[in-house]
Amino acid sequence: MPLAAALPRSPLPRDRVQHLDLLIQGLDTASLWWLSGYTAGLAAWADSASNASPDARAATESAIGARVTIVYGSQTGNSKRVAEQLQRQTEGAGLAARLVRADAYPIRELAQERLLYVVISTQGDGDPPDDARSFVEFLASRRAPKLEALSFAVLGLGDSGYPQFCAIGRKLDARLAELGATRLFDFGEADLDIDTVAEPWTQNALTHARDALKTAAPATNVTPLRPHIEATTWSASKPFKAEVLANQRITAGDSHKDVRHIEIDLAGSGFDYEPGDALAVVPRNPESLVEMVLEALQLDGDAAITHAGATHALRAWLASKRELTRISRPFVAALAERSGDAELQLMLQPGRVEALRAVLADRQPIDLLQNHPAKWSGDALVAALRPLAPRLYSIASSRAVVDDEAHLTVAHVAYETDAGNRWGAASHWLATRSGGATVEVYLERNARFRLPADPDRDIIMIGPGTGVAPFRAFVQQRAAAGARGRNWLLFGNPHFRSDFLYQTEWQAALKQGTLHRMDLAFSRDQPEKIYVQHRLRECGRDVFDWLERGAYLYVCGATSMARDVEEALRHVVVQQGARDADAADEYIATLRDAHRYARDIY
Ligand SMILES: Cc1cc2nc3c(=O)[nH]c(=O)nc-3n(C[C@H](O)[C@H](O)[C@H](O)COP(=O)(O)OP(=O)(O)OC[C@H]3O[C@@H](n4cnc5c(N)ncnc54)[C@H](O)[C@@H]3O)c2cc1C
Ligand SMILES: Cc1cc2nc3c(=O)[nH]c(=O)nc-3n(C[C@H](O)[C@H](O)[C@H](O)COP(=O)(O)O)c2cc1C
Repeated sequence: MPLAAALPRSPLPRDRVQHLDLLIQGLDTASLWWLSGYTAGLAAWADSASNASPDARAATESAIGARVTIVYGSQTGNSKRVAEQLQRQTEGAGLAARLVRADAYPIRELAQERLLYVVISTQGDGDPPDDARSFVEFLASRRAPKLEALSFAVLGLGDSGYPQFCAIGRKLDARLAELGATRLFDFGEADLDIDTVAEPWTQNALTHARDALKTAAPATNVTPLRPHIEATTWSASKPFKAEVLANQRITAGDSHKDVRHIEIDLAGSGFDYEPGDALAVVPRNPESLVEMVLEALQLDGDAAITHAGATHALRAWLASKRELTRISRPFVAALAERSGDAELQLMLQPGRVEALRAVLADRQPIDLLQNHPAKWSGDALVAALRPLAPRLYSIASSRAVVDDEAHLTVAHVAYETDAGNRWGAASHWLATRSGGATVEVYLERNARFRLPADPDRDIIMIGPGTGVAPFRAFVQQRAAAGARGRNWLLFGNPHFRSDFLYQTEWQAALKQGTLHRMDLAFSRDQPEKIYVQHRLRECGRDVFDWLERGAYLYVCGATSMARDVEEALRHVVVQQGARDADAADEYIATLRDAHRYARDIY
């Protein structure tokens, strides 16, 4: 990287340049982008402050007024993709567009913004994506400015299989209006078939941007924030056909969990994945489930069904084009209407979210179809079920070690009900693919979940269960690169004997000095339950010491675990850092904003 000192005509004094060099050395690209946005925001703020000359202020305001700002918050890349597409289309229409990830948005610029589009997903149980937490918190707070000069629109991404469908997008939409901003058009709620809603929303956004910007001054002085946009060849609509090389159960035969180590051949795909990225798998539903649905509804699987311009046999729709293992709210609504069932209708009423939550979490469509009989046609069924969505799996390998392969650590969702066996679509599809079989995949990058650019930095990895997957990739990568920073893993699962994923590999890494510390939490090996968050508290002094020395902290795995881990981390900062709760929250937010606290949760 060129150092500032080497660049000609810096407006800064020499000692400031040296400080700057010290500050930026070793920063990753996300931090550099953030820094550029931050300093640009400061400049804009300074210009608009009362001591700025009227000319300077007018120039800044006209520059900001002449562009559209697109802010996105995204956990798994979908909102980012939509936001990038909007930016491309806006620029294609000859308008100035600035694309900013929410945590890189210079929040002080908000008061001067004239045209803002927000594309944001909902995570957890109605939580913002990690990269938008500060943005959402700031807007919700009393510190948020009045935004009377702002025009905006919000697109929420979500999954109607969750009771808090698109909750964060909706909250932001309402809050921006509450702060005095003008809503250009209605809030968009995109379900897993994102494009159905995102495409018309984007067109609408473009039309309004044209109207709003056609009279504005040409864009100058625009804050130079534009994350790298990559062209991906393989996608959900055009996945890469990869061969399964190995599929091995890595929990003991008597474990309650069936966890698979799956090796996939990516040769020819061009996937240049990095540790932290995920592989998206396009699943097929279990054949026996498809037949069960056809039988329960007395439908002909060979009947040709045309829906949204495509024609397939009903059996093909159900096997690979419709969700048959996850329930969504619209499906419950369709069944309630068709069956006239009072229980289902009640559960859709506002205030009955807990009843709906239980159905969404513990039932599959076949359970409802069997328990609430109704007359269905093939067309109506295909219309009521959602498109089958790909599932993501953290890549558990480093290309530096496995070359053209990707390894996955997959927990097979399989359970019994009174009415028979039930499976998760993708994990069952993967668990039943043996060596030589083909699976359809594409790469889902996760730029927020990256090893530190500086190999001397220490890392703390908290990954119970399959959450350990990306950390296998991290440790492989750091070992191959000869990184000098220390690697600390906190792992947990029910039992030491049957559920210690990759036990021999971790022990070898400890011996070789590529893993420096490992703390284990086997929850059911003693009368009281012990989880990774308990270990984190016990090791609080060391955790805080590592953080104070610049360590990066990563959490991967279940959403509820990540919440408990964050609570434990807050406790550690309060205890070891002698801070009150607010200051501890600020400490954690600072880590997050500096990309030193990253989570990959599901
Ligand atoms: C970024 C990211 C990374 C991920 N990485 C990994 C990873 O490394 N490894 C991994 O295994 N997973 C990972 N996942 C989760 C993965 O994507 C899938 O969500 C998971 O495998 C389940 O998908 P499925 O298709 O098998 O089940 P689905 O078909 O999606 O779900 C099955 C349905 O069955 C129901 N159900 C499940 N269990 C029960 C039960 N015991 N009782 C009653 N009902 C039940 C649920 O309602 C669920 O809706 C990751 C997710 C994300 C977002
Ligand atoms: C762990 C997890 C929790 C989620 N929780 C919600 C939720 O509470 N409400 C919702 O509408 N969608 C929820 N979703 C669905 C995502 O919002 C949806 O997949 C979206 O397309 C993701 O967009 P992103 O890739 O930009 O983050 C959740 C997804 C995951 C993986």
